[in-house]
Amino acid sequence: MPIEVTSRMNPFSPDQPVDWEYFAGREEEFQAIMDCLFQTKQNMTHHIFITGERGIGKTSLAKITMAMSKKDVIKSFTFNYLTVNCTCDSNDSLDDICVKILKDLKKNIDNTIWDRFKEKFSEFELKIWHFGFAAKTAVEEKEIDISKEFPFLLEEFFDGVKESFDGILIVVDELDRISDKLQIGSFFKSLFEKLNLDSYKRIMFLLCGLNKAYENLVEQHESLNRAFRLIELGYMSDKELKEIILKALDRINPKVSIDIKVLDKIAHITGGMPYFVQQVGYSIFNADTDNFIDEEDYAKGLGIGKYINVKDSALEQLARKRFNKIYIDEFKSNAYREVLKIMASCSIEIVTKEFIKERFKGKETKLTNAINALRERNAIKSVRGTKGKYELASRLFKEYLKMRTLAEDYSLGLDKNGKK
Ligand SMILES: Nc1ncnc2c1ncn2[C@@H]1O[C@H](COP(=O)(O)OP(=O)(O)O)[C@@H](O)[C@H]1O
Ligand SMILES: [Mg+2]
Repeated sequence: MPIEVTSRMNPFSPDQPVDWEYFAGREEEFQAIMDCLFQTKQNMTHHIFITGERGIGKTSLAKITMAMSKKDVIKSFTFNYLTVNCTCDSNDSLDDICVKILKDLKKNIDNTIWDRFKEKFSEFELKIWHFGFAAKTAVEEKEIDISKEFPFLLEEFFDGVKESFDGILIVVDELDRISDKLQIGSFFKSLFEKLNLDSYKRIMFLLCGLNKAYENLVEQHESLNRAFRLIELGYMSDKELKEIILKALDRINPKVSIDIKVLDKIAHITGGMPYFVQQVGYSIFNADTDNFIDEEDYAKGLGIGKYINVKDSALEQLARKRFNKIYIDEFKSNAYREVLKIMASCSIEIVTKEFIKERFKGKETKLTNAINALRERNAIKSVRGTKGKYELASRLFKEYLKMRTLAEDYSLGLDKNGKK
């Protein structure tokens, strides 16, 4: 029996950084990056550091920067950078990171260019380019440290390609994954100093990481905060969030339109976080069957109201990918969960300590400890400029907690007021 394919292409990508066509907003940040590319091209090196919480769009912005820095992608911009990307892993050493960059540099040039200057490298150096990780054994034998060789290798490489490119852009993403013990601050400080001293000013780095990665770097070497143009990605505006949805829907054929009220609801519930928009957009798109996304599709896709616990809803996906980890794995103490559930039961977003205290079963010290621990883990936020007032980390997290409370009460045989 022939199987009919009824699926439509879903234009939302909660688990991937976006491409150029789907990228929305961030105009100011984008302009700042363009300026850095322009300055570096003129021999005025501008390194960049993009920070912001997970899911805020760091990798996407870096990806767009890479696309824009290369030749001919967008007609009105004529940068011609050689661009490479390295994503850090938690067990990477400094050598591993350097090798990843070097290998990617070589991969991104024509063999004809490489053949022109490869004899400049020693046999050992060539091993690094060719075998990467395998070179580590050679390193142990010869006691050579690839990360110490890195500035020289990079400079020699640059000499070989400088006629062909405006400069080199090296993106290092997920910097927060690597161990604090690596002294990455010292590495970048001496690398930048050496490149500057030897007048290699058309080599720029774009680093991405959580705020703490930047803080660690600057803590290791205070002068590094002057070395970077810091781009702090914050929550997106409602306008930008709606642009994400509209740009995505614009890419598909036959056309799918959306109720303007639903657009407002998505912007509200996702609270400025592009990752949430992509997840909610993805699930709502799947819930729709008539090429018009209405409030029913919204409730079904999100998994609220009568659609609570619907399979593949955005809330179920987010629970699996993000919220369960916080609620179940990270919190050993039941007191933490109790505070979260009390906060989720409050009808307004800003919850006072009194409200929680009245409902909390344990002692006040236990409550204070729980609140502090939740704040440290970014599960709740203090309301700025006030004392004893808190908010859950996001509106979707609140919906998730409500969903869990219902499910847990149900399994204990309690009614919707928590009574037997
Ligand atoms: N400017 C944007 N326009 C559209 N979608 C975006 C934008 N920024 C981020 N996203 C989406 O949000 C999600 C998280 O983005 P990502 O770049 O991976 O964040 P980070 O690297 O900060 O964790 C991805 O699904 C991506 O598609
Ligand atoms: Mg990322």
